[in-house]
Amino acid sequence: MRLVKFILTCLFFYLLLKAPGFFWGKPVPASLVSMYMFFIVITVLLVMTITDEGAKKLFAPVRALVEDPSKKLIRNAVFVILPIAAAFLAYDGSGKTPPSELRATHPAPPALARAYGKTFDLTKLENPFRKIEKQDPEAFKDLVKEGGEVYFKNCFFCHGDKLDGHGHLAHALEPKPLPFTGNDTIAQLQESYVFWRILKGGPGLPREGGPSISAMPAWENELTEEEVWKVILFLYDYTGNTSRSWS
Ligand code: HEC
Repeated sequence: MRLVKFILTCLFFYLLLKAPGFFWGKPVPASLVSMYMFFIVITVLLVMTITDEGAKKLFAPVRALVEDPSKKLIRNAVFVILPIAAAFLAYDGSGKTPPSELRATHPAPPALARAYGKTFDLTKLENPFRKIEKQDPEAFKDLVKEGGEVYFKNCFFCHGDKLDGHGHLAHALEPKPLPFTGNDTIAQLQESYVFWRILKGGPGLPREGGPSISAMPAWENELTEEEVWKVILFLYDYTGNTSRSWS
């Protein structure tokens, strides 16, 4: 049946998108999956309805359900269950996830950022402490520890003592503080991007970061440049994430 074929084709692509996460522990971000699935469903629908006959066959089961007198019982059941299921989904979801809003979680950074009386070229900027990781692992450990102190003095109220975004202030904020664990946030970012976000915070977000007002403070007046680079070392070290690099 054509409808079954349609569902199976979409399912196949869905599983394909889920495979990297399942087999290699490197999931495609959920937002990307839903975006791809949106286009895939439309494409499959287009291909399968390109002829009138194809379209007719595809929707035949749906038509029959609505029109065929002998399917009255099933029809009534479907029309009762469907709204109830939708209502349940809406009810179940309320309170857990706020209605989605069009907000880029990781808006594009500007190429240049001014702070500490300097201009940083974010396209080339690297963490100055990163090279010590290989050169002198002992000294590097101390730097990470100092970064941890910066974190627990300034950041854990919101981002959580396990860096999972569940700090005790988190439930009062919208948008929520982002977790650093998992591979959806800092694992997808360059250290220069994280540096820019910490310096400029919510106030420094470009327009596509809106419309909500982010509570993330701008730290450029509170922390020194070195403290910011150290807290970044800590974020990656603690969560076992590595930053995205240019290579
Ligand atoms: C008052 C609560 C609060 C405090 C304190 C806070 N943050 Fe945030 N932070 C947020 C919120 C809310 C977001 C998500 C909204 C946004 O992106 O601006 C965020 C986002 C971020 C991001 C962006 C992550 C991403 O994936 O794009 C980074 C990096 C970050 N915070 C680092 C820090 C660091 C480091 C500190 C401590 C020096 C800190 N934050 C302190 C609330 C806070």
